Amino acid sequence: MMKGTSILTWILIVCLSTAAVHGQYYSNSRPYHPMPEKVTDLRFFLHESPGGQNPTAIVISQVNITSHNSTVPFGTLYVVDDSLQTGPEPNSEVIGNAQGLAVVAGINSMTAVVYLDFGFTTGEFNGSSLSLFSRNPLIMAEREVSVVGGKGKFRMAKGFALLNPVVLNATTVIIEFNVTVVHY
Ligand SMILES: *[C@@H]1O[C@H](CO)[C@@H](O)[C@H](O)[C@H]1NC(C)=O
Ligand SMILES: *[C@@H]1O[C@H](CO)[C@@H](O)[C@H](O)[C@H]1NC(C)=O
Ligand SMILES: *[C@@H]1O[C@H](CO)[C@@H](O)[C@H](O)[C@H]1NC(C)=O
Ligand SMILES: *[C@@H]1O[C@H](CO)[C@@H](O)[C@H](O)[C@H]1NC(C)=O
Ligand SMILES: *[C@@H]1O[C@H](CO)[C@@H](O)[C@H](O)[C@H]1NC(C)=O
Repeated sequence: MMKGTSILTWILIVCLSTAAVHGQYYSNSRPYHPMPEKVTDLRFFLHESPGGQNPTAIVISQVNITSHNSTVPFGTLYVVDDSLQTGPEPNSEVIGNAQGLAVVAGINSMTAVVYLDFGFTTGEFNGSSLSLFSRNPLIMAEREVSVVGGKGKFRMAKGFALLNPVVLNATTVIIEFNVTVVHY
């Protein structure tokens, strides 16, 4: 079966199964009693291959403009599925992945804005993820990104990550992440 067909089938299955649920609009506001929060520090390394045999960041849309000479001009949109690993070594243990989008959003600067979900696949936070929405991490003019939310053990997460590019060239990007996050 074609990949497109299987995705369509899957969407249909989801639609059919949800159609069976009786809809009833519901709304209820109640006082907010925050649960005790904790602070978690995480350190890991993001591994990305923007080029080469098995790229983990791929251009999915690009504006055809001649006024910008950059190879990654304003308006370039990437889809990303990078691995999160315990170390900067390519063979270090994989602990999760970062999936989402990065868009080159600076007209006169090489600024990217990323919309990434950092999902963990092992250890205490297996199945939990952190949502990052911030400008700049790939280009590295600023070395901080914001954590705007999370799920699983990271529910109600908010925080930030400090970044340090270990390798940054055309085929390999390795970035150290020190994340500080407050969550339930
Ligand atoms: C990009 O724009 C130029 C100038 O309008 C045109 O000649 C060229 O065919 C376009 N390239 C693509 C890939 O659409
Ligand atoms: C692009 O490159 C051409 C030729 O090198 C140069 O004349 C032009 O000024 C450059 N344009 C921009 C926007 O940098
Ligand atoms: C992570 O969670 C998934 C789903 O619950 C489970 O299948 C997998 O074995 C877990 N992995 C580890 C390393 O605990
Ligand atoms: C991350 O934390 C480690 C250990 O505390 C430290 O050595 C490193 O410099 C930090 N890196 C960044 C980018 O903050
Ligand atoms: C990029 O860096 C990696 C790791 O240091 C190295 O193996 C590779 O040859 C470099 N590629 C380029 C194009 O410089």
